[in-house]
Amino acid sequence: MTAQAKTSELPDLRTAHVVVVANEKGGTGKSTLSIHIGVALLKAGFRVATIDLDTRQRTLTRFFENRASWASNAPWNVELPYHHTLERGNSESVRDNETAEFGAFAAAVAAVEHEYEFVVIDTPASDSYLMRLAHSLADTLVSPINDSFIDIDVFSRVHHDRTQRGQVAHYADLVLEARRKRRLVDQGIIDWVLVRNRMSTTQSNNAKQIATSLSRLATELQFRPTDGLHDRVIFRELFPIGLTALDPIEEAMRSNSLSASQASARREVDALIATLQLPERGRGLAHLQARHEWFDRISRYYREMKG
Ligand SMILES: Nc1ncnc2c1ncn2[C@@H]1O[C@H](COP(=O)(O)OP(=O)(O)OP(=O)(O)O)[C@@H](O)[C@H]1O
Ligand SMILES: [Mg+2]
Repeated sequence: MTAQAKTSELPDLRTAHVVVVANEKGGTGKSTLSIHIGVALLKAGFRVATIDLDTRQRTLTRFFENRASWASNAPWNVELPYHHTLERGNSESVRDNETAEFGAFAAAVAAVEHEYEFVVIDTPASDSYLMRLAHSLADTLVSPINDSFIDIDVFSRVHHDRTQRGQVAHYADLVLEARRKRRLVDQGIIDWVLVRNRMSTTQSNNAKQIATSLSRLATELQFRPTDGLHDRVIFRELFPIGLTALDPIEEAMRSNSLSASQASARREVDALIATLQLPERGRGLAHLQARHEWFDRISRYYREMKG
């Protein structure tokens, strides 16, 4: 047998690309983006797993439950991901909860990392152990942000006095820390993309100022800023039936043509996916080993703490 033949017989062990959607600021559109990124990837023909880490609100879970229910009677094929919802730890001890949640999260990732090309993870708006863990695992981190200085303030302190401005704020600090940890394991690059969401369709001075602030911060914090989704009713109205503007809702509405807002919404989601520059194939073996090593290290750390 030739060396070439041997190589081609090796299993093509690839691992999923992990997209984490997160921002410690609440209500910026994490779940909305998780839904649209997940559905867009499914529609592009990828095998997609989704994980809901928001154990309280479970918005992503609710969406896919609605979608599964609609799918059972839909006149067309409605794509569904493999979806997993993390359960909350319910012990009195924070450490026990963290250990249990770590185990459940590691198991959830292990269950999907070979079979799926993408894992999309929606996170809660809180600083928890699990949130930090998810950040350090991200290949692509998507942080939606609304056009407001209140939203920018969780990345870099906003202040009228220049001397008090620009300090790295708590959420950016969390991401930078996750990057440092990740680098220790696999020289991992977390591609951090800040996505403007609920943008106004009319030009305003505020929007210009936000765009300027974001491009200034991008160099300092090493993220890529991008214009994401405008504020459109279509991005929220289809939640009860688990559909999105990407689905052929014109058929459900018995209309022959796309509405203008559906067409614009589709263009925006397509542009967002293109900007994310996701790989077309899963990541290779080295990446998989690095992830396992990362989980091993953390579980060793927990065992030592407990012992
Ligand atoms: N581009 C958009 N156009 C219109 N409505 C939007 C858009 N993005 C989000 N919304 C709406 O804004 C609200 C908050 O969005 P979403 O629940 O996705 O945010 P979140 O960051 O997941 O919130 P939480 O921090 O509570 O988990 C929801 O009512 C959602 O329907
Ligand atoms: Mg949410």
